[in-house]
Amino acid sequence: MGCRVAVVGGTGVVGEEMLNVLRDRKFPLDELRVFASPKSAGRKVKCGKKQATVEEIRDGSFKGVQIALLAVDKELAKKIAPKAAAEGAVVIDNSSSFRMDKDVPLVVPEINPRKAFDHKGIIANPNCSTAIMLMAVYPVYKLAGVRRIVAATYQAVSGAGRKAMDELPAQLAEVMKGGKPKPEAFPHRIAFNIIPRIGSFDSAGYTTEEVKMQNETRKIIGDPRIKVTTTCVRIPVMRAHSIAANIETEKKVTAEQVREALASAPGVDLEPLKDVYPMPLDASGKYNVLVGRIREDASQENGIDLFVSGDQLLKGAALNAVQIAELLVQEGLHG
Ligand SMILES: NC(=O)c1ccc[n+]([C@@H]2O[C@H](COP(=O)([O-])OP(=O)(O)OC[C@H]3O[C@@H](n4cnc5c(N)ncnc54)[C@H](OP(=O)(O)O)[C@@H]3O)[C@@H](O)[C@H]2O)c1
Repeated sequence: MGCRVAVVGGTGVVGEEMLNVLRDRKFPLDELRVFASPKSAGRKVKCGKKQATVEEIRDGSFKGVQIALLAVDKELAKKIAPKAAAEGAVVIDNSSSFRMDKDVPLVVPEINPRKAFDHKGIIANPNCSTAIMLMAVYPVYKLAGVRRIVAATYQAVSGAGRKAMDELPAQLAEVMKGGKPKPEAFPHRIAFNIIPRIGSFDSAGYTTEEVKMQNETRKIIGDPRIKVTTTCVRIPVMRAHSIAANIETEKKVTAEQVREALASAPGVDLEPLKDVYPMPLDASGKYNVLVGRIREDASQENGIDLFVSGDQLLKGAALNAVQIAELLVQEGLHG
């Protein structure tokens, strides 16, 4: 069955990857519509043999669209998603607007694929660091249960969109010339620096990104008992997020048992034992996440440490969204 698909935000970094992933995975497209802001209207974009002219969104834009992949900011998504759903599309939204809404499934196809069919018009794609971390944590959960996760992230600048992606090389060039660049996309200079803040702070001192990882982990795995604490850090890397995770399991497991579980986990490339470990440069452009540095935690009885790198534009956004669309299409959009 072919499908009529709209990519909303198709000129942004995630939207462009959605078009690439649709093409690479030979998604059965009957028709492709691409939407962006009025400034991009009229631009031509390609997705394999299909070409689309970028349109601005109007009333009725989504009539006849079966799946709308949204890659716009959260305020815009809040307006566009219900409108597209009311006009008949199933929306797969990349923003954080609907993820914790009880009527909206939050789906990672390798973990909770059947949830996709519980939708009422909107399905949410998870936070990028959460999706990447859970690709490594869920096989451990299935093996031994998980009581608690303590994680620190190392997040690429492209996670904050095109403007942020342009800011890193511009700042690096200016600093090398002795200049003092003014930060715009980030709260501080990112060139030759790291910023332990992604999003805004709550009264407990957590950032919005950290709270997303905590809540979304419980919702995706479907276990409200899992305790999660995170520190999210922006680093001067262009693409692919990494996460160092310490996992307290219910049952004691060895590093070898965890390696075995991860070796057969879908969407995971297990790095060899010694000199090869996950790095963002190697994870960039890959569909699978890279997992390595697996070891038993020397500080507690039931603990595993691991390191994961994954392309947040792919598994953390575009690929995961297209995988959800594929699930819908495989089951005739209904399940
Ligand atoms: N970047 C990541 O790694 C990542 C990962 C997971 C989730 N997300 C989420 O994905 C969403 C998109 O992020 P991004 O990084 O791709 O941002 P981006 O590069 O800034 O792209 C934003 C897109 O929104 C479009 N847009 C702006 N105003 C619009 C309007 N009035 N009507 C229709 N489209 C409009 C832009 O079109 P123009 O080009 O015409 O301005 C552009 O295509 C965000 O919710 C973000 O939180 C991002």
